Amino acid sequence: MNFTLTKDQLHWQSAAHKFAQEVVAPIARKMDEECTMPISIIEKMASLGFLGGSVSKDFGGTGMDSLSLVLTYIELGRACSSVRGFMTVHSSLVMKCIEQSGSQEQKKEFLPRLASAGLIGCYALTEPEAGSDAASIKTRAEKTNGGYILNGEKIWITNANLAHLAIVFAKLPATEGAKPHSSITAFLVDTNSEGFIRTKMPGKELGHRASDHAHITFKNCFVPEGRVLGGENNGFKVAMSALDHGRLGVAAGALGVHQACLDTCVDFVRARKQFGSRIGDFEMVQAVIAEMKTSLEASRLLVYNAAWKKDQGENCTLETSMAKLHATEAAVEAANEAVLLHGGRGYSNKYPVERYLRDIKGLQIYEGTSHIQKIVIARQVIGK
Ligand code: CAA
Repeated sequence: MNFTLTKDQLHWQSAAHKFAQEVVAPIARKMDEECTMPISIIEKMASLGFLGGSVSKDFGGTGMDSLSLVLTYIELGRACSSVRGFMTVHSSLVMKCIEQSGSQEQKKEFLPRLASAGLIGCYALTEPEAGSDAASIKTRAEKTNGGYILNGEKIWITNANLAHLAIVFAKLPATEGAKPHSSITAFLVDTNSEGFIRTKMPGKELGHRASDHAHITFKNCFVPEGRVLGGENNGFKVAMSALDHGRLGVAAGALGVHQACLDTCVDFVRARKQFGSRIGDFEMVQAVIAEMKTSLEASRLLVYNAAWKKDQGENCTLETSMAKLHATEAAVEAANEAVLLHGGRGYSNKYPVERYLRDIKGLQIYEGTSHIQKIVIARQVIGK
C-alpha cells in the first residue's frame, strides 16, 4: 500500500474538509435538534463534485478513486454523520450499484441526474422480518404485461422520503426447491409511481436525527420492464456487491466520528483544570487519549487498505468488512470515553460528544451489524 496521498486525493480531502468545517459543522447541532437536513447541503455536495464521486466522468460523475471517496466520507463524518450517511446511500449504494450492475441505457438515464442531485436515490432492502437475513425478504414481484407488479413493505430506508429513485429488492415466484437468494430481483423504481407509499419511520431515533428514514409500502406498484437492474433473479448479488461499496463508506464515516472525538478531547484536556493542573497531565486521562489515537490509526490503515485494494480492481469483501467492523467498534469506544472524559459537560448537548456517541451507534448497526461483519469475515477466511 502506498501511504502517500496523490495530488487528486489531497484535493478531495481538502475540499471536503473545507465544506464540512465551514458549511456542515456550524449547523450540525441545529440539524440534529430539528431532525432535518437542508436541501442546500445536498445541492452543494453535488456542485462540489462529491455526490458524483463514486462514478466515472462518462456518466456525469467526478470519477474519484476509492481512497478519495473515503477521504471525503471521513471529513463529512467528522462534522455530521447524517450528512455523510446521506451521501453514502446516494453515491456508494445507489449510484455505484447502477454503474456496476446497470445497462448502458440505465446508466445514461440515471447517473448524470443522480450526480447533480437532480434525482435523489435510496436503496430498499430491509423489511420488518428481514434485517440481517436479507435473503428472507417477502416483497413480491409478479410479471404482468410490459413489466412487474410489486407488493410488500420496507423499513428503515434512508433518504426514501426525499428520493425520486429507489433500488427495490423483491422476489419473483420461486421454482420449487430453489435457494431463497435465487429469486431476488433488483428494480429501479420511480418513487412517484402509483402504489409507492412512503412515510417517515415512527418514533425518534437515538442518533442520525437529521437523516431521513422511511417506511415504504408497495400496493400493486407497477414497474416497467426496462427497470430490472442486473438481471432477473440476480438481485441478491446486486445487493451484496452494493453493500461492499456502502460498507466502506460507513467505515470511513466511523473514522471521521472517531477523529472528531479525539480532536474534541484533546482540546478539552488541554484546557480543563482540576486538582491544580490541566487534566491532560493525569496519567489516566493520557491513557484514554493514547488508546483513542492508536485505535484511530489502526482503523485508518484498515479503511485505506480496503480502498486501495478496491482501486486495484480486486475483490475486497473481506477488507471492507474488517474495516467496517474495526472502525465502527473503535469509534463507539472512543465516543463512550469522550463522554466520560468530559464529565458532566459530556452529558450535555452544549458539547458535541453526546451527539457523536448517539450517532456512532447507528454505524455499528446499519449496512450490516458488527455481528454480520464477523460472519462475512469468518466465511472469507474459513470458507463456506
Ligand atoms: N458480492 C457478490 N455476491 C455475494 C456477496 C458479495 N459481497 N456476498 C454473498 N454473495 C453471493 C454468494 O456468493 C452466494 O452466491 P451463490 O448462491 O452463487 O453461491 C449468494 O450471494 C448467497 O450468499 P450467502 O450464502 O453468503 O448468503 P446468506 O443468506 O448466508 O447471507 C449475509 C449472507 C452476509 C448474512 C447477508 O445476508 C448480509 O450481508 N446480511 C446483512 C444485510 C444488510 O447489511 N442489510 C443492510 C441494508 S442497507 C442499510 O442498512 C442502510 C440503508 O438505509 C440503505
